[in-house]
Amino acid sequence: MNNKAIGVMDSGVGGLTVVKELIRQLPKEKIIYFGDSVRCPYGERSTEEVIHFTEEIFQFLSRKDIKVFIIACNTATAAAISKIREMTDIPVIGVIMPGSRRALQISNNNDIVVLSTRGTKNSHKYKSTIQKINDHANVLEIACPKFVPLIESGDYKNKKNRDKVIDETLSNLKRTSADTVILGCTHYPLISNYINEYFNNEKNIVDSGFETARDVSTLLEFKKLLSNRKSEVIHDIYVHGDYKQFEQILNEWMPNFKYTIQSVEL
Ligand code: DGL
Repeated sequence: MNNKAIGVMDSGVGGLTVVKELIRQLPKEKIIYFGDSVRCPYGERSTEEVIHFTEEIFQFLSRKDIKVFIIACNTATAAAISKIREMTDIPVIGVIMPGSRRALQISNNNDIVVLSTRGTKNSHKYKSTIQKINDHANVLEIACPKFVPLIESGDYKNKKNRDKVIDETLSNLKRTSADTVILGCTHYPLISNYINEYFNNEKNIVDSGFETARDVSTLLEFKKLLSNRKSEVIHDIYVHGDYKQFEQILNEWMPNFKYTIQSVEL
């Protein structure tokens, strides 16, 4: 059981920001990753569609015999985590609770901005999760629908286009009193330096990937599921659709990552 893999999913490359932390904090664990590039962005889809896609991907990864399933996508976590938990006995971890907890830990004024997809914003899952812990927290949820296409296309490397999208999306927040900004979409850490600069490096930026990896580590330890693998780990990547663009971003984001990659249909 211990040497089974950790299954991770996202709509595209975003979940790699969680994987980067997982392999840093848990280097003996094998990851099987599913990126649903063909159907990205999830943030513009209906809740029913996102639930359906998440179920399909969970079923695909279950056939690979995984010991834990990580929904490394805020939109899918918001829409589908309770449904997936009903389908299985293995632990299912999402990214909203870990990011919310961290924001409350780090904020000095409990004034928090959440940047996310439209789907996550409309679910108000961040607001309810944060206020369940602290009723007095002020939570402003902002949809950033142009961020995921900017990142998936690789266009975020183009300064002019990147600056334009960031400015158009965040200009109303320039004078916010919030001291903490949650990157409520796993794609956003790929542009977190630029978001941070946009706020003159004055805000706490919360990357839920980092926090999620910590939760996974605690959970595996508690359930006695930590791997004791001795040999080098080769991870498996499945991409729904063409993986050329996906692989380019993967190699830039995690240059030392050892993996196999293949394109799959569902
Ligand atoms: N990375 C995902 C998230 O955290 C999905 C982005 C999208 O496909 O719209 O929400």
